[in-house]
Amino acid sequence: SVEKSLRPQTLGQYIGQAPIKHELNVYIQAAKQREESLDHVLLYGPPGLGKTTLAWVIANEMGVQVRTTSGPAIEKPGDLVALLNELQPGDILFIDEIHRLPKVVEEMLYSAMEDFYIDIVVGQGPTAHPVHFPLPPFTLIGATTRAGLLSAPLRDRFGIVEHMAYYNADDLEEIVLRSADIFQTPIAPAGAHAIALRSRGTPRIANRLLKRVRDFAEVSPDHDTIDPEIVDHALTLLRVDSAGLDSTDIKLLTTMIDYYNGGPVGLNTLAANIGEETETVAAMYEPYLLQRGFLKRTAKGRVVTEAGYRHLGRPLPTDD
Ligand code: ADE
Repeated sequence: SVEKSLRPQTLGQYIGQAPIKHELNVYIQAAKQREESLDHVLLYGPPGLGKTTLAWVIANEMGVQVRTTSGPAIEKPGDLVALLNELQPGDILFIDEIHRLPKVVEEMLYSAMEDFYIDIVVGQGPTAHPVHFPLPPFTLIGATTRAGLLSAPLRDRFGIVEHMAYYNADDLEEIVLRSADIFQTPIAPAGAHAIALRSRGTPRIANRLLKRVRDFAEVSPDHDTIDPEIVDHALTLLRVDSAGLDSTDIKLLTTMIDYYNGGPVGLNTLAANIGEETETVAAMYEPYLLQRGFLKRTAKGRVVTEAGYRHLGRPLPTDD
């Protein structure tokens, strides 16, 4: 599908994240030269930055197969055994949201990762007996939006740990131009730049906005090419503001200002106030607002910054 073809296949095609690509290239070449499996990789960072895509790129560069699953999908040890049982030497097991693995499953992973075996108990009652299961060497790639929620024993078993950072506007512009090319949608570089500036540093959002802007361009009689004007028109209707904040970001900041005098307010309280899960706010909304400098964390809770007030066009709080 067109959707799938947006995904780069090689490190060379993967735009942005230069330090990570550089490191991974070294580790991949070295593992291949030694004819060994790649060490286990932990990718962490906000959603939509390409963690899953990068796992597929690594597999492709290593010339191995990938099995993909997610933390919540592995409910019991047997589910993990079934997955591990299908691996060929060198294959990759990709576990998304690895911070949500059940504890018993996580504990089985320790020996699997460290020494490529698992011990499982077969049978029940008097016939129960341990069975030692050797595994082929494999690479676990774990992805998480919340590295802080990973237990130390699990985190320590990853030899390669990479923090995915938000993309800069130039990288996002390049991604948008590449995607538009795949969609065969005419676009001016300035149009791609305008989308990039409103994508919260996130390729998934950039590609989503591109698709929506393309819809507007296609039905508009006087805009066959995506330019800044139609980007602005479309994104204003979609209520994506000049900094890329959506209605939930704005609600979060205005709730803090209107009900908590700008903070400090705790994350749980804030999430409940705007009707979102704490996890959603912590993984999806807060990180971008922090990195834009609209929000800051203090010992007493979250606080809207001066830049946050200015961006919303709100007067600064008084001390009463
Ligand atoms: N599409 C989504 N993310 C991408 C990336 N980092 N490089 C190239 N294409 C992408």
